[in-house]
Amino acid sequence: MSVIEISGLHKSFGSLQVLKGIDLTVERGDVVCIIGPSGSGKSTLLRCVNLLEQPDSGRVVVDGTELTDPDVDIDRARRRLGMVFQSFNLFNHLNVLDNLTIAQRKVLGRNRDEAERIAGQNLEKVGLAGRERSLPSQLSGGQQQRAAIARALSMDPQVMLFDEPTSALDPELVGDVLGVMRTLAGEGMTMLVVTHEMQFAREVADKVLFMDGGVVVEQGPPAQVIGAPTQERTRTFLARVLNPTGDNP
Ligand SMILES: Nc1ncnc2c1ncn2[C@@H]1O[C@H](COP(=O)(O)OP(=O)(O)OP(=O)(O)O)[C@@H](O)[C@H]1O
Ligand SMILES: [Mg+2]
Repeated sequence: MSVIEISGLHKSFGSLQVLKGIDLTVERGDVVCIIGPSGSGKSTLLRCVNLLEQPDSGRVVVDGTELTDPDVDIDRARRRLGMVFQSFNLFNHLNVLDNLTIAQRKVLGRNRDEAERIAGQNLEKVGLAGRERSLPSQLSGGQQQRAAIARALSMDPQVMLFDEPTSALDPELVGDVLGVMRTLAGEGMTMLVVTHEMQFAREVADKVLFMDGGVVVEQGPPAQVIGAPTQERTRTFLARVLNPTGDNP
């Protein structure tokens, strides 16, 4: 059963057409990786899925609820989606535990004990047990990103959206965050991931989507889109990300 159904999605900023008719289906438990050059509309697509941007036309259905229906309760619908950004977006003045419990209490109405119990489980899952009292500034970038993932998980999302979650990290910290994402995928979490980590996409994705210029140029299993792309634009992009210096190893 599909958890996300996007059809005919269009979005412009002024005269700039950023999304020119995107169709995408994400099945429950699937990991879909979105790749493509800078400015191709990847973040805008993700932001239209949780209505941080209002699409101009087209349909977005998440878990049976049409988010693009003008009468939808957006706040309620958005709770099905967890979002993790490139910049970790933690509240810097709150410690890790408070970062993980504040929305559980304010949005979901959980009491402190329950919110802290759930936060603890998720901190354990991302390898941050014992860091409850740390401030974000006392954590490495990779730890902050894992805390941000734990915070999103604490809201019991049906789907996790990731927008280049490892792009702001020092190279040696990338692996831990990707490891957490692998674990989530293994547990059956439905995930939509914008990433330049081709190895991750190859190994973890059920489907890869290559976007360029606001359209989906190519989509399919990673062995096809990354391993044997049929479109010239996909090949050019992959050559650049897989060998950014242009050196011939
Ligand atoms: N709020 C906005 N107002 C105006 N233009 C925007 C806005 N958000 C995005 N854009 C423009 O839309 C285009 C697509 O942006 P988007 O952030 O979706 O690309 P992207 O594929 O995520 O790129 P990157 O890989 O650099 O993150 C860009 O030209 C960008 O400048
Ligand atoms: Mg982006």
